Amino acid sequence: MNEIVASDLAIGYDKSSPLLRNLDFKLTNGVYVLLGANGSGKSTLLKTIAGLLPPLQGEIYVNGFKPYLLKRKEAAKLIGYVWQNPFHGFVEPNVEREILFISRQTGVEVNRKLIHKLVPLELFDRSPFTLSGGEAKRVSLASVISLDQPIWLLDEPFNELDFSGVKIFTDIINYARARGKIVVITTHYPSLADLVNPDYYLLINRSRGTLVIDKWSNLSDEELVGNEVIPRVLKSELTG
Ligand SMILES: Nc1ncnc2c1ncn2[C@@H]1O[C@H](COP(=O)(O)OP(=O)(O)OP(=O)(O)O)[C@@H](O)[C@H]1O
Ligand SMILES: [Mg+2]
Repeated sequence: MNEIVASDLAIGYDKSSPLLRNLDFKLTNGVYVLLGANGSGKSTLLKTIAGLLPPLQGEIYVNGFKPYLLKRKEAAKLIGYVWQNPFHGFVEPNVEREILFISRQTGVEVNRKLIHKLVPLELFDRSPFTLSGGEAKRVSLASVISLDQPIWLLDEPFNELDFSGVKIFTDIINYARARGKIVVITTHYPSLADLVNPDYYLLINRSRGTLVIDKWSNLSDEELVGNEVIPRVLKSELTG
């Protein structure tokens, strides 16, 4: 059983003004979608769970470990964190080396099926910095999740994917669910998130500084709009 536990957690960059505080939650195996307005703290929460940022207060545990205390290689084996902006993560001169970078650092064998689902072979010799936005997203996803970690934190994975990319991604999330992973996905598009049949949503209420966690099936357009998130049905919102 995988587990992410927050206890009295405060996150952000400045102790005197956390983005969110007093967070208490426990996530177990399943697919979670993290929603909230621009700048509300979605990426910051994922970075805190990934161990890239220490808590400002309280504690965060991932499978019993404080992630910010783990060596980077150990964290990379436990947690697959995919950056919102893929170009932030690229370090290698070609796509093939980029995809295998974390595997080489950690010694973990990659799942080649996941790589080949996402990235066409003809991209392997290209510089990652010359890729289109969608190609870059596919490479950054492949470079992280091919390690098949028990925890995946995917920041805006739908951004810039075409429909084929969305379908491949959906298959990969079904695979993750069947393997008992915890997957946390951020998105601005709940209608796309519907395709992966999420189990729960986590919704940041920026004005109150709170995090609501509930079953995905309970998420309404009213709640989305009230929290500055794009609703599923746009027309009625714009005309209503
Ligand atoms: N390194 C940093 N130092 C100081 N403030 C930061 C830093 N990184 C982000 N912030 C601020 O923290 C707040 C939350 O940022 P975050 O990236 O977590 O938002 P988000 O919910 O992911 O937004 P988006 O929907 O635009 O991706 C924003 O106001 C942002 O400007
Ligand atoms: Mg973000």
